[in-house]
Amino acid sequence: MSSVNRNRPRRSCMAVPGSSQKFIDKARTLPADQVFLDLEDACAPLAKPGARKTIVAALNEGGWEGKTRVVRVNDWTTEWTYRDVVDVVEGAGANLDCIMLPKVQTAEQIVALDLLLTQIEKTVGLDIGRIGIEAQIENALGLTNVNAIAAASPRVETIIFGPADFMASINMKSLVVGEQPPGYDVGDAYHHILMSILMAARAYDKQAIDGPYLQIKDVDGFKRVAGRSAALGFDGKWVLHPGQLDAANDTFSPAQQDYDHAENILDAYDWYTSEAGGARGAAMLGDEMIDEASRKMALVIVGKGRAAGMERGDRWSPPES
Ligand code: GLV
Ligand code: MG
Repeated sequence: MSSVNRNRPRRSCMAVPGSSQKFIDKARTLPADQVFLDLEDACAPLAKPGARKTIVAALNEGGWEGKTRVVRVNDWTTEWTYRDVVDVVEGAGANLDCIMLPKVQTAEQIVALDLLLTQIEKTVGLDIGRIGIEAQIENALGLTNVNAIAAASPRVETIIFGPADFMASINMKSLVVGEQPPGYDVGDAYHHILMSILMAARAYDKQAIDGPYLQIKDVDGFKRVAGRSAALGFDGKWVLHPGQLDAANDTFSPAQQDYDHAENILDAYDWYTSEAGGARGAAMLGDEMIDEASRKMALVIVGKGRAAGMERGDRWSPPES
């Protein structure tokens, strides 16, 4: 297996129909952390064979620098999946980072994709294990098995909530993705789903990604829904329209003040635990007591801020002795 950093920036994961050359060309120019070229629901059945070719050409032409390159194939219950994977990976495997598998229901579906990828990698001489898998959880069975799905292969990089299919699959009485179903006024109808996905992701060191917000003109609505999953600890969210991009990148980056504070916790804790700082396990940073757990929390924020290319503002320096 190849060693590959599967922890890629994914604040914004832009959906692009694989059948549209125009949208593919536009996506190259946009500041999305990830782009996924879609062979599934944004691609009509009759357009799928042509879209496979368009996607292979688009990946091989390049122009995706700085972006994670993903193709969403069709789910295993259709007749299209194997041909999607074979055509795309044989044709453009060297220029592809991950395959996104929708409507994952069992760990075996991940294992099946893993095996198929390995065969193609061997056949065409690609680095074995480099191509990752992004697993979409879109129905009750998938959520019930989410822990096993996350653990099913080292290729799994993300667990993604697919709210539109999910709402349909559990008969939720709402048509507005991300908003609360009318009549349910005692909490967040998505909390259990989001938390289950997040726990599986964190337990197995994967990223947790929130799905689409369909009201593309309502950027405030996007920010509200994205803000919730970001607050819980999700790593990013789908973007369906360029107008949602800045909101996604901002929402899933730390605030400047939090980033500066987290960097300062790391510096201060480093110093206080050193000989020069008194080799202490716990210390005061202003009015705040910091210890090893504070360092771990700070590392999360710092990791996200650095990945987002943030610059440090106020810097802590050791007290004068
Ligand atoms: C995404 O695929 C969704 O169903 O929300
Ligand atoms: Mg879906």
